[in-house]
Amino acid sequence: MEHFGFLPMIVLVGVFLTGSVYSRSPAVVNVGAIFTQNSVIGRAAKVAMEAAVSDVNADPTILKGTKLRFITDDANCSVFLGSVGAFRLLEKGVVAIIGPQSSAIAHMISEIANGLQVPLVSYAATDPTLSALQFPFFLRNTQSDAFQMAAMADLIDFYEWKEVIAIFVDDDYGRNGISALDDELHKRALKIAQKLPLAIQFDLDNITDMLNKSRLLGPRVYVVHVGPDPKMRLFTIAQKLQMMTSNYVWLATDWLSVTLDSFSPMTESSLQILQGVVGLRQHTPESIRKRAFVSRWGKMLDEGLASSELNTYGLNAYDTVWAVAHSIDNFVKEHRNITFSFNDKLLKMNPSKIQLNKLKVFDGGSILLEKLLETSFTGLSGQVQFNQDRNIVSGGYDVINIDQMAVHMVGYWSNSSGFSVLPPENIKSEENSYSHLHQKLNMVTWPGGSMERPRGWEIADNERPLRIGVPNRASFVEFATKLHNNLNMQGYCIDLFIEARKLVPYDVPYRFEPFGDGHSNPNYDNLVKMVADEVSKNI
Ligand SMILES: *[C@@H]1O[C@H](CO)[C@@H](O)[C@H](O)[C@H]1NC(C)=O
Ligand SMILES: *[C@@H]1O[C@H](CO)[C@@H](O)[C@H](O)[C@H]1NC(C)=O
Ligand SMILES: *[C@@H]1O[C@H](CO)[C@@H](O)[C@H](O)[C@H]1NC(C)=O
Ligand SMILES: *[C@@H]1O[C@H](CO)[C@@H](O)[C@H](O)[C@H]1NC(C)=O
Ligand SMILES: *[C@@H]1O[C@H](CO)[C@@H](O)[C@H](O)[C@H]1NC(C)=O
Repeated sequence: MEHFGFLPMIVLVGVFLTGSVYSRSPAVVNVGAIFTQNSVIGRAAKVAMEAAVSDVNADPTILKGTKLRFITDDANCSVFLGSVGAFRLLEKGVVAIIGPQSSAIAHMISEIANGLQVPLVSYAATDPTLSALQFPFFLRNTQSDAFQMAAMADLIDFYEWKEVIAIFVDDDYGRNGISALDDELHKRALKIAQKLPLAIQFDLDNITDMLNKSRLLGPRVYVVHVGPDPKMRLFTIAQKLQMMTSNYVWLATDWLSVTLDSFSPMTESSLQILQGVVGLRQHTPESIRKRAFVSRWGKMLDEGLASSELNTYGLNAYDTVWAVAHSIDNFVKEHRNITFSFNDKLLKMNPSKIQLNKLKVFDGGSILLEKLLETSFTGLSGQVQFNQDRNIVSGGYDVINIDQMAVHMVGYWSNSSGFSVLPPENIKSEENSYSHLHQKLNMVTWPGGSMERPRGWEIADNERPLRIGVPNRASFVEFATKLHNNLNMQGYCIDLFIEARKLVPYDVPYRFEPFGDGHSNPNYDNLVKMVADEVSKNI
């Protein structure tokens, strides 16, 4: 009860401070957003950003006396329209742009943002190359695919597969994501056997053709890195081609979990097709605030204010607005005025040829960027804080598995502790050191309902037989010797190999390759070196 006595005094102090410090702060600050309204991520992000803007404007503790004006522009999935949209926003004097949603647009407009000193804070562009020093004004409040691909490579390693086939959409997001996967696999002595690019506007024939051809290859582990696809076209075709069966492994980056979350519950037929698929989802810790927002979202859905379920990018989008608002608040508290000035270089261009004369440089841009990089608060998606690469400090990934027409949680991945069945935030710090012994995931049900880990490869139709170099010696011929006039070998070692071969539960075509002329003993070092060098001519 005693608290009541103090309250009026605190309020008085507050009013006094407000009156002096904020007297000349701007009445309105413009913040832009570029996204595609008609997309899985855009539908959730737009509603989340609008909710955040109205929360910021209603919150007396932030940007007092200043209204955040939120100006949006629809890129409609087009890099061209997105870039034109960015110009429109910049003409309106925005101090920051939230977005873009797509990596390709981010590449395009990052240079413009640099020139005009307007920070871009994306909640959904995951292309790793956007962290380049080339784009100092690009920040990312979502996990870079460099990180997701480390998780994916660990997953492939965890199940002991050696080679995968990568299917990706052939744009900045897809290509650069798969290139990061390539790097991560290389670190673990694993590899992508084949990269299969899909055109951005792919049709069913293209997928059919591509998947059908991929069956001629040996690997049966597919990593799919495409955009959110509510129709699940790829898996629909894979099922038609009998590729959702127990010989196959399907791993999906977080486009799949975002699609599933956004349309939950998915139709039964879609979930049926996805039987056995394993995917990643950006991990967001459970919290009271997150639960409250989820239930608020439910109400918005009921009232028709939201047209999509909430997904992780929606949480990121909400937090991004707050990150920008906090930074503007700090900026205004210190500098009060927001000014723009004409850029000499732009003015020197002939304005009649190109309409750049409305574009101005944001004078406080690099200060606002500094403030953004100092961001540190707990949002709906967890801790919001940027690292040196201007990416969000990562919270890891969930590993999901679709089985029995439901999405199951198999475990978690974090950079520091690898795989675990406990969320990363629940792992005690003393256990929080990566160790191969502690790696653990719950049981996965694989395609075809199998509980047994698929082998992940097959002897493909056009695969070359295993070639086995055998010393063709002049002495100790009872161990291995070449039969006259043909390539067949005999001897104790050969018998042992053939017996051991019978224990392998699948067919391995092989061929003996005699090494040496049979008149003198061959040099073993040379034989081993030729294997290591992958010398392909007959040995
Ligand atoms: C968005 O693009 C599609 C085709 O890509 C077009 O049919 C549609 O009219 C566009 N919508 C808007 C709002 O421009
Ligand atoms: C996709 O399929 C269409 C025909 O359906 C074809 O014209 C086009 O060349 C194919 N694209 C690729 C990249 O294979
Ligand atoms: C798949 O490829 C084979 C040849 O390798 C061809 O005979 C078959 O018709 C193809 N199937 C489809 C559905 O395209
Ligand atoms: C406010 O803006 C003016 C230019 O319009 C500038 O000269 C002045 O230094 C700015 N004040 C602060 C505190 O940044
Ligand atoms: C992941 O962990 C490694 C060392 O364990 C570290 O070098 C790397 O910077 C970490 N990556 C991120 C994105 O935190």
